Amino acid sequence: MQVIWGKVRQYKTWILSVVLLALVAAGGTVYYQGKNAVPVAAGTTMTVVRGDIQSVVSATGTISALNSVEISSRVTGLLTDVKVKENDMVKAGQVLAVLDDTTLKAQVAQYRSQLENYATIYERSKKLAAIGGQSIQQLDGALAQANGVARRLPYQTNDEIRKQINSGKIQYIDMHLSHVAQQSRYGFLGGKVDVAIVEAVAITEEGHIIPSTSLGNAASFIQSADIVIVEVNTSQPLELEGMHDVYIPLDPPHRLPIPLVKADDRIGTPYIPCGFDKITYIVPCDLPDAVRPLAPIDEDAKAMSGHLIEFFQQEIKQGRLPKNLLPLQSGVGSVANAVVSGLVDSPFEDLSVFTEVIQDGMFDLIDAGKLTFASGTSITPSPDGLKRLYANLAEYRKKIILRPQEISNSPEIARRLGVIAMNTAIELDIYGHVNSTHIMGTKMMNGIGGSGDYARNAYLTVFCTNSVAKGGAISSIVPMVSHFDHTEHDTHIFVTERGLADVRGLSPKERARVIIDKCAHPDYQPMLLDYLERAEKATSFAHTPHLLEEALSWHTRFVQTGTMKK
Ligand code: COA
Repeated sequence: MQVIWGKVRQYKTWILSVVLLALVAAGGTVYYQGKNAVPVAAGTTMTVVRGDIQSVVSATGTISALNSVEISSRVTGLLTDVKVKENDMVKAGQVLAVLDDTTLKAQVAQYRSQLENYATIYERSKKLAAIGGQSIQQLDGALAQANGVARRLPYQTNDEIRKQINSGKIQYIDMHLSHVAQQSRYGFLGGKVDVAIVEAVAITEEGHIIPSTSLGNAASFIQSADIVIVEVNTSQPLELEGMHDVYIPLDPPHRLPIPLVKADDRIGTPYIPCGFDKITYIVPCDLPDAVRPLAPIDEDAKAMSGHLIEFFQQEIKQGRLPKNLLPLQSGVGSVANAVVSGLVDSPFEDLSVFTEVIQDGMFDLIDAGKLTFASGTSITPSPDGLKRLYANLAEYRKKIILRPQEISNSPEIARRLGVIAMNTAIELDIYGHVNSTHIMGTKMMNGIGGSGDYARNAYLTVFCTNSVAKGGAISSIVPMVSHFDHTEHDTHIFVTERGLADVRGLSPKERARVIIDKCAHPDYQPMLLDYLERAEKATSFAHTPHLLEEALSWHTRFVQTGTMKK
């Protein structure tokens, strides 16, 4: 206790101060509360009554009914009449609304006319079948598969036809294309033409026929035929009209010179003259052309093209060719196409073409602005080429003319224009004879086509081929060709990927050395030289030295062993 009082005494001043402060604070609080107090209202009393409580909700949104049914028509269309109002009671089957049926009516009319059309086609087809004139797309393959072809001419590229030609089922007459029309008119090809079938894009009001991408011998066949069947192919664009120039020469002894002096001259009509009295059936069709793809342009083809371009440049330098060359003819197949495409990168301008088939390479030249004009008898593009043609037809039409084969392949015109003929060989021999048609001397590949028409009559006759085939097992240059399509008298220039042999003005023995040196594959060069030297010795350097028992031994060796190499 003593201690506590001691401490109180010690801090008494402090304690007094704290007590004082507490009193002041308590007094302040009471004063403050008294100052802010709310006065209490005087109470009132009322009678309790019942009533509506009004509440206004202000909002935006969609009011949806508690129960609803979705109604829609099976077809879409514009509403022309609504036959019920909101909240009407309706019954099943009741008409609620009316749609505008103008489009539907038009569709019905269209389907009805299509139906009538198909009925007509069906009737026509029945009649055509009865006379053996049924028109079939992919005619060759389809007919061959049905064993429907006994005799075939003059050029084909169909696998099935080829198989049947080479198995004795079809008799194939492989002839120069320029000869076909006249021989047919004279009845040499199995008698008179009874039925001519032609694909067209349109028939004029006078009954003349506007052909499609191919003219060939159609004009002449139509002239001779009793029955003309026109297949109007709506997949072929109408813009093809105007691309054709139809001129049929008179037959001897009334024939006159064909009045064509430049590749782009027009000498005939833009249609095949016919008349409705001759057209027996018109068959509508919308099947697109079934075209064949071309092999991609490989290094060998580029090399061949390069050798040719270099050669042409030399010829220009020596004044033997004009700067824009002479009208070019280019054959069928991948090699020929690649060679033409190669001219795109050449220095030549204002080129012109006088040929038979117009392949993709020509489109490349036109697109590159290198080709001023191309004359042919048909356009045979790859699937891609066909798309290109259709996409840019207005432009290509200005630069392409299609003529009857008798004109496109006319020896008279080839000679007059001084064509540069570039075709493909299957094989050639050391003396410059060319086989364009036969595999191992026996099996038909395609046919001579127009290559002979041009080869014999051109200003410059070029044959291209790879130096070897079948991975090197075959030399495309052999001691003696196994079939002769173009003789040493027709050929001037040979080109393989290895080089170019110019054999103009050379004798057979001189030719042989140039061809072996410039064109043959190194694997076969020593064998060819050995053959030549032994043949020269054995024949005492005869004009065309051959070892007859050995001349075709390279082919027999390939047939027996699978390679021409020893
Ligand atoms: N021996 C055997 N087979 C050979 C060969 C040879 N010396 N040279 C090529 N071949 C084969 C190829 O291996 C190929 O065989 P595959 O079909 O089994 O693959 C086939 O012959 C075609 O050869 P390819 O290199 O693809 O040739 P291509 O498409 O350039 O066509 C021709 C070449 C000769 C067949 C073709 O140009 C033709 O039919 N020419 C004759 C008609 C013509 O020239 N018309 C032009 C006037 S417009």
